Amino acid sequence: MIDVTLNTGAAMPQLGFGVWQVPDDDAYTAVKAALEAGYRSIDTARIYENEAGTGRALRDSQIPRDELFVTTKLWNSDQGFDETLRAFDASLERLGLDHVDLYLIHWPVPEQDKYVDSWKAMERLHAEGRAKAIGLSNFTEKTLGRLLASADVVPAVNQIELHPHLAQDRMRELGAEHGIATEAWSPLGQGKELLGEPVLTEIGAAHGKSPAQVVLRWHLQRGTIVIPKSVTPSRIKENIDVFDFELSDEEMGRIGTLDSGSRLGPDPDEMNWLG
Ligand SMILES: NC(=O)c1ccc[n+]([C@@H]2O[C@H](COP(=O)([O-])OP(=O)(O)OC[C@H]3O[C@@H](n4cnc5c(N)ncnc54)[C@H](OP(=O)(O)O)[C@@H]3O)[C@@H](O)[C@H]2O)c1
Repeated sequence: MIDVTLNTGAAMPQLGFGVWQVPDDDAYTAVKAALEAGYRSIDTARIYENEAGTGRALRDSQIPRDELFVTTKLWNSDQGFDETLRAFDASLERLGLDHVDLYLIHWPVPEQDKYVDSWKAMERLHAEGRAKAIGLSNFTEKTLGRLLASADVVPAVNQIELHPHLAQDRMRELGAEHGIATEAWSPLGQGKELLGEPVLTEIGAAHGKSPAQVVLRWHLQRGTIVIPKSVTPSRIKENIDVFDFELSDEEMGRIGTLDSGSRLGPDPDEMNWLG
């Protein structure tokens, strides 16, 4: 497993495991299988309603806490200074942990306009050592610029929708300029049309790998953090079996041509849903 060094100095596994849309009981089983397969970084969120099952799997694994990397996220309706502090306590309680490795603002929610205050609370949680690193999710050039203008702590991570159909070169570049690591959500394009692209099948055949493995390798070679999700034991193993081959520059370039700028999720500048 390869690590990325965050701007806090902490090491974060470049490949982790996501649990969006996994019911709490299934999250227990999936996270257990992921840990057995070798994943050490797990990405959950308050809104996924599976922090409890995730936390139980982490604790039952008996893997030392300092070998695990746990991310959770502040939900939109919990934004605001005091609300953030309360929401964080509730997340820790559900996870059954005394700290997380990364706490993210899930969406900026521009209309609500509370992310600057929420960030102040995140900075406090970071100073207290209960959130070892703090970061953002779904921030765009506009919202990131505004946050940075008043931030004392530069976010460690921006987790954004990113896959070969939405390569996000501008946001990756901006992140690199500020020392913010880019993390891809829906790295496999949610297992939909993307994995049917003939170029991925062709490149995969040349390496004896699946389209999903080719896509994950593309992310890794671009330096992006990835958190593929699966509840299927064979895919959980398949998605971590990506460290024994390398894509050539030519292959990376061919995958690069798939970028059509098409999103699976909402445009974060327009996303104001409070849940
Ligand atoms: N910050 C945000 O706003 C945000 C938004 C979305 C997601 N996320 C995070 O990012 C994680 C990953 O994104 P995601 O869950 O949206 O999508 P994803 O990881 O791109 O794709 C998951 C889908 O692909 C299928 N799949 C997984 N491995 C496969 C393989 N090897 N071959 C074929 N199909 C495969 C899965 O099916 P099975 O499970 O049935 O195997 C599932 O339907 C989430 O779980 C969550 O932690 C964050």
